[in-house]
Amino acid sequence: MGAERMRRIDRVSSHGSSMTVFWTDGGNSTWPSIWLRDQCPCAQCRHPSGQRLFEIGDLPAKPEIAQATLSDGTVRIDWRDNHRSEFAVAWLSDNDLSDEARAARAKQPVLWGKEIVAKLPEGDWPTIACDPAAELRWLEAYHAHGFGLLRNVPVQPGQVAEVGDHLGFVRTTNYGKLFDVISVPDPNNLANTALGLGVHSDNPYRDPTPGVQLLHCLESEAPGGDTLLVDGFAAAEQLRAEHPKHFDLLVQVPASFRFSDRDADLRARSPLISIDEDGRVTAVHFNNRSFAGIDAAADVIEPWYAAYRAFAAILKRPEREAIFRLGPGDLVVLQNERALHGRTAFDPNQGRRRLQGCYVDKDGMESRMRVLRRQLNAKQEAAA
Ligand code: OGA
Ligand code: ZN
Ligand code: ZN
Repeated sequence: MGAERMRRIDRVSSHGSSMTVFWTDGGNSTWPSIWLRDQCPCAQCRHPSGQRLFEIGDLPAKPEIAQATLSDGTVRIDWRDNHRSEFAVAWLSDNDLSDEARAARAKQPVLWGKEIVAKLPEGDWPTIACDPAAELRWLEAYHAHGFGLLRNVPVQPGQVAEVGDHLGFVRTTNYGKLFDVISVPDPNNLANTALGLGVHSDNPYRDPTPGVQLLHCLESEAPGGDTLLVDGFAAAEQLRAEHPKHFDLLVQVPASFRFSDRDADLRARSPLISIDEDGRVTAVHFNNRSFAGIDAAADVIEPWYAAYRAFAAILKRPEREAIFRLGPGDLVVLQNERALHGRTAFDPNQGRRRLQGCYVDKDGMESRMRVLRRQLNAKQEAAA
């Protein structure tokens, strides 16, 4: 982004229905006039808050550019209906619609396998909680990898929700604002046994599925109970490379998920793999315990199950699986629709084990990262 901001315009040309700028670095970018007119930042078009004051129907269907001129880091457009718009060069650069610019703006996940345990994206919570630069570094690593660890979180019940409300906004569910992960008699969920749990996304039976999960370790004396993490995006890419037809089926046919106990009957549907309009993987929903089947035409069932089996096998490959142990004070933050988590079985007769968990929405954490970036940039500019 920084390098892009420095781009300069050599010249501008317009043809009524579009404007093209020629950059000094050699490239050029074109915007259709309707797009530019809709983005007009003038005081008639936008409230000081930045929100739009007109509706789409108020614009001419085909706004015509009379002329576009460049002066002083600004491109000025005079419209045939006597409106005038001014766009900063840096803003045009940030909103370049070329394929290359759009690809560069897309999130680029850092895919990982078991080797990630040697360089876990981690940070010291007491530092992060009071140092915005340290927090931003941690958030950027978290977003690139789809998870991050916080060390030295106070070993006190309830801390997980404090951290959740610092990074975003904790989402209360039928499990409460936070929940205990301990082995109990007669549990309503396999999480509250001593059994191993295969890697999964939590609660795909909710709509929306929780975007972020936090798990804070309070006690881990029991032998076993190691944490397993698999990069669902890397696994999905592996499926696409090895069996493109399986991949397509898991994208196209949604799976149903369900959780039911005395007080709840939660149901939702999601494809196991979601992609965006350019085919990039955006989400993985995988949960053996709460998978409730697929509601699809009979001739789709067998091929879908073959695809499901192939994907499940990839998720179990040892090279995909990062295994490490959480100790008291460690807190793992997961993008729940990417970094799939599980645990090995433990022996509750030989020691205690207690985690606390909560859910946070993804948008709040992304917003926090952008706001910290904005604040730190403003500080740097003021200092320069
Ligand atoms: C959970 C879970 C993992 C663990 O509670 O959702 O997956 O390590 N727990 O106990
Ligand atoms: Zn305007
Ligand atoms: Zn879980």
